[in-house]
Amino acid sequence: MAQKIQIAPSILSADFATLGEEIKALTTAGADRIHIDIMDGHYVPNISIGPDVVKALRSYTTLPFDVHLMITPADPYIQAFAAAGADTITIHPDASPHLHRSLQVIKSLGKKAGVALNPSTSPKEIDFVIDIIDQVLVMTVNPGFGGQDFIDSQLEKIKILHQKITQSGRNIDIGVDGGINPQTAPQVIAAGANILVSGTAIFAGGPQKYKVNISQLI
Ligand code: DX5
Ligand code: ZN
Repeated sequence: MAQKIQIAPSILSADFATLGEEIKALTTAGADRIHIDIMDGHYVPNISIGPDVVKALRSYTTLPFDVHLMITPADPYIQAFAAAGADTITIHPDASPHLHRSLQVIKSLGKKAGVALNPSTSPKEIDFVIDIIDQVLVMTVNPGFGGQDFIDSQLEKIKILHQKITQSGRNIDIGVDGGINPQTAPQVIAAGANILVSGTAIFAGGPQKYKVNISQLI
């Protein structure tokens, strides 16, 4: 299990009019990966961006792109996001009729595969895909919007997942997504998370603050 804490800014909180420059600024500020939220107004009550925007952003950094699909159906778009330059593609179990098959498709495209668990979703969802996943993303808010409050009950889920993953002996990252700030970051790290997705806390104050905002999460 990877131990270094990685910071993955969610560009949902970025200035959408200057996304390329935002990604450059995050790279300079010390981000480890870029978290890209894909929303369809159907699986979640918000709409964000599609594969063409991801493709346009790819040349602005060499950092890995973590594409978080909050769309249903997810399957018809996996190939497009892989081709657009995603390094990890994460899907929600209830957005695919055959989760295992969707994860197989992601792997067959040479990408890392992630499973995202909503606050009400059981950690047992990963039990029969633990052999093929590379990341679990624990939603610490209900998906759809930045700027929501961290849901404390998810700390117990992170601990359970950490135990399962340790027992499996596999190298699976535990990401957390939603309401991560200098107060909640130490709690999720103590519970076993190693990738911190954060939007509001990192983008606060504009590009000149990104470096200090990132450093305050670790
Ligand atoms: C929520 C998204 C998150 C969100 C996090 O559906 O998946 O990535 O942008 O934003 P903050 O850090 O503001 O909670
Ligand atoms: Zn996300």
